[in-house]
Amino acid sequence: VTNVLVVGNGAREHALAWKLAQSSHVSRIFVAPGNPGTASVAENVPVAIDDCDGILRTVESCDIGLTVIGPEAALATGVQDLLRSHGHACVGPDEYGFQLEGSKSFAKEVMERAGVPTARWQVFSDYDAAVEFVCLFDGSVVVKANGLAAGKGVTVCGSTDDALVAVREALLDWRFGSAGRSIIVEERLEGIEVSLMCLVDGTKAVALPVAQDHKRLLDGDAGPNTGGMGAYAPVPFLGRAQVDALVEATVTPVVADLARSGHPYRGILFAGLILTDSGPYVLEYNCRFGDPETEVVLPLVDQDLFLLLQAVADGSLPAHIATTANSTAAVILAAHGYPAEPRTGDVIEGINEPGNCLVFHAATAINGDGKLRTAGGRVLAVVGSGDDLHQALAAAYASPIRFGGMHRRGDIGHHALGLGYDAYNHDTANPPSTKMRIAVLASGGGSNLQALIDAERAGFLQADICFVVSHDVDAGSLRRAHDAALPHAYVPIANRRDPVSRRAHESALVETIRQRSPDLIVLAGWMLVLSENAIRALNTPIINVHPALLPVEGEPLDVPILRGAHAVRDALELGLPYTGASVHYVIPEVDAGPVIARESVTITSVDDEASLYVRLKLVEHQLLINAVKQLAETRDQMRGAANRTESGTPSIHSSHHS
Ligand code: AMP
Ligand code: GLY
Repeated sequence: VTNVLVVGNGAREHALAWKLAQSSHVSRIFVAPGNPGTASVAENVPVAIDDCDGILRTVESCDIGLTVIGPEAALATGVQDLLRSHGHACVGPDEYGFQLEGSKSFAKEVMERAGVPTARWQVFSDYDAAVEFVCLFDGSVVVKANGLAAGKGVTVCGSTDDALVAVREALLDWRFGSAGRSIIVEERLEGIEVSLMCLVDGTKAVALPVAQDHKRLLDGDAGPNTGGMGAYAPVPFLGRAQVDALVEATVTPVVADLARSGHPYRGILFAGLILTDSGPYVLEYNCRFGDPETEVVLPLVDQDLFLLLQAVADGSLPAHIATTANSTAAVILAAHGYPAEPRTGDVIEGINEPGNCLVFHAATAINGDGKLRTAGGRVLAVVGSGDDLHQALAAAYASPIRFGGMHRRGDIGHHALGLGYDAYNHDTANPPSTKMRIAVLASGGGSNLQALIDAERAGFLQADICFVVSHDVDAGSLRRAHDAALPHAYVPIANRRDPVSRRAHESALVETIRQRSPDLIVLAGWMLVLSENAIRALNTPIINVHPALLPVEGEPLDVPILRGAHAVRDALELGLPYTGASVHYVIPEVDAGPVIARESVTITSVDDEASLYVRLKLVEHQLLINAVKQLAETRDQMRGAANRTESGTPSIHSSHHS
């Protein structure tokens, strides 16, 4: 029996240590530096992942027979070469092989030589040359930092404008530091992404079950890229023969190329694939186990992981890896503010009743008080398993683990449920509904949202509240949506005062809303101004509730028009005899779109902001419900109008343009 060292401190390493602990050939397992989760299945040693000397010392002092390196940051130090030069077995490619992950241009050159399909690409350090290439592909390109940028160096562009901004930020503004001093611009491919992880023993590549990662933060694959919000395995529409064909097309030729170069690859080779209409293409290689893929793949392996990894190091892998017939699904529980500014220190509850799940720790810590707390962005991976994906997902989502500000996606695996490869591109997230679909954007408490929910539940309003969004994770509106079992999402904004974060937030917002294809968008206490671009991109009627009277042509008012965020306070300060509430269409100019309905509210001598606000709210609720009801009833008319250009903003009254 042998002692094993796992280098790393995330959920991937917890899963590795957990699986290795099942081997009868393993005596002690050490994890450097590990986390509270690995401490439950192994012994943590306080050595940082990039401390090569510390790792070598640990291998020698703990009599380690095999070292498995988790993170790319550890491989990037070349510790695997150091260990081997001292005669220690290690899973992980040498410095030459690691360039497959560490240098995108190296990877592209190898693929080209080996005949592996990959997006057409070019490396640039010159801005003007990059611009030319972008224009060649009409802006349908992906801009990538050439070096390691911790998963953040990739911009998928939808237009020439987007692409030019990305190129400028990387090459002229040095957004990715030295990792982006040269960039790769490549053609953008369309298809399904899957993660193919192979064990490679120098000459042979053997596939583990294929998994699918969910990189975007929000449901419907919207929002910013993250380190991975969930995964499932196996991918149901890829049978054994298809997986073998994928390995032959995308991994074996590269393994052969490296062997020919005198650098046989011994480690994990992870191909990030995109399955396009014209076959599989490689998006990237990683030289390590994927995270969160490892957490779903290892529980399916029906073989001694230690023996497999030893075979990687020795060059003696079997032709196939035995797996169970089960399915697994991992749901990542992420911290408040992830990925921009994850909050740490929230107490984790319910972890001692994992139910039918495996729980792997990604970023947790136990403080002086003995409580388990969040300690980073991705906190825990909850892995359910079952006979099929449905069961696996049900188990993972039944987990009672909670912490303050916790975010998890609600749609892991949704693409694969009951679908084949071909069916994959069709959106099943939005089953056809005959009712008008309403998306509600509410920053705060959500009382207007509640009014809509209540009206719908009471049968007064024939509408389907298909989506609720807030930019505040603790918003009452999200709680109300949750309590009413309505689909909802938190779309974070890194910094409300920074135009770049505002823009990023807005595009995430637009994307996530468009996924739900609403017929109407209701701003119900939405504190951010939608830009003209966003309004145009949403291409859906948007209505807003405003706590003041807005102008209607031919119906003059004898009080001033109060626009903006302080309309209630302004009405009091101006000593007006009355104010009111309005529901109006949203146009780029703030509070200036056509009015759908309005009603006045008397101001009394004893009113303060709070008392006036209470009465205004009641009127707002009634106006909103009535407006939505009317819109629902005149929906066909509205739908036709929505397709017109912005000059034809629809109104159910005669048009009141201001
Ligand atoms: P990478 O770090 O290279 O895997 O890129 C991160 C993500 O960007 C991938 O998972 C894809 O979703 C996307 N991506 C990268 N390259 C392309 C491409 N050529 N076409 C379309 N999407 C891409
Ligand atoms: N899940 C993708 C990665 O590990 O890079």
